[in-house]
Amino acid sequence: MSVDTKAIRVTDDVYWVGAIDWTLRDFHGYLTSRGTTYNAFLVMADKVTLIDTVKQPFCGEMLARIASVIDPAKIDYIVSDHSEMDHSGCLPQAIAAVQPEKVFASTIGAKTLARQFKLDQEIIPVKDGETLSLGNLNLAFVETKMLHWPDSMFSYLPERQLLFAQDAFGMHLATSERFDDEVDDWVLEFEAAKYYANILTPFSPLVLKLLERVGGMNLDIKTIAPDHGPIWRNDLGRILGLYEKWATMAPSRKAVVVYDTMWKSTAAMARAYGEGLLEGGACVRLMPLGASHRSDVATELLDAGALLVGSPTMNNTIFPTVADVLTYLKGLKRQNLIGTCFGSYGWSGEATKQIAQTLEEMKVEMAAEPVRAQYVPDESDLAKCYEAGKVIGEKLQANCECGCKAR
Ligand code: FEO
Repeated sequence: MSVDTKAIRVTDDVYWVGAIDWTLRDFHGYLTSRGTTYNAFLVMADKVTLIDTVKQPFCGEMLARIASVIDPAKIDYIVSDHSEMDHSGCLPQAIAAVQPEKVFASTIGAKTLARQFKLDQEIIPVKDGETLSLGNLNLAFVETKMLHWPDSMFSYLPERQLLFAQDAFGMHLATSERFDDEVDDWVLEFEAAKYYANILTPFSPLVLKLLERVGGMNLDIKTIAPDHGPIWRNDLGRILGLYEKWATMAPSRKAVVVYDTMWKSTAAMARAYGEGLLEGGACVRLMPLGASHRSDVATELLDAGALLVGSPTMNNTIFPTVADVLTYLKGLKRQNLIGTCFGSYGWSGEATKQIAQTLEEMKVEMAAEPVRAQYVPDESDLAKCYEAGKVIGEKLQANCECGCKAR
């Protein structure tokens, strides 16, 4: 018995020909608990066009899906909207199999692809605003520099009101279903938020500008086809609204307390902060790093108002798991946070000072003095943690822009 690997029709003339990666759990440091998809799209225009490819090991799957519609050798054009390896890894194999007449990418994309692969095929640069005729259809290009790579661009198929959005509006989610209306709402929103938090947060000011620009272009969009996860065809306003909300980074009354512990002293301090935060009016997420992945911390922080970081001092420095998450969060450049830090120590106690310095570099407003406790926190130490938590909770409640007054 042969098993057919089929393309899925997205709309007239457009097919999904990507690959489903059910096993992926680590995407450059991001925990992809539900796997992912690498979406590629086949436009059956007069000039048959492939939009993006897939991660290298999945090339056979993509070519098989294409073959369920048309002989891959009949593809005329390949367009690379984004040169990161999960979308371009299979480009050399695809070029060898298809022998396309032309391959297109943004100006920076053409250079990036040339650096990544020693291709014989010329990559033709296309400019922002340029339109490529596919015969009976057209493909318009919109540069989206630094969303999230310098090369990134959108391709828009006006006759089908379809936006190929590469990583934007995507999520790491392996499913047998291809469309947003076929997936549970809560899964969609969680995974879209996790993707935004871990990939796009640093570029939030550009996201806001892009949303404004695309809104001003009056593009008639009925379908958004990202390079990961389901295709949006049901309620585009929902994902666009979420992007605007996440990019705005308005503080809520949620406090994320991230910490690790050696002998449960810093853990006891974290719990005291948690109780104080709750009393002050915050909602609280305690995230012990023995049980919380850095990418889940980033996701919780996406709509939070406060970040509190706790670490014991080990060998004169920050505990390794805490240093890891701080490095990760610093790179994500979340804005509009208040916070503090805390931790236990034996004899030197540098970690708290080092964390405070990093929080300052992250522009986290120190809303309470750091608390340190030697060896095991006593009642007085825990009371300081509780009071600091309460102060931060009250401040969060006062700053919260969502209008909630839960307590
Ligand atoms: Fe899905 Fe930026 O690659």
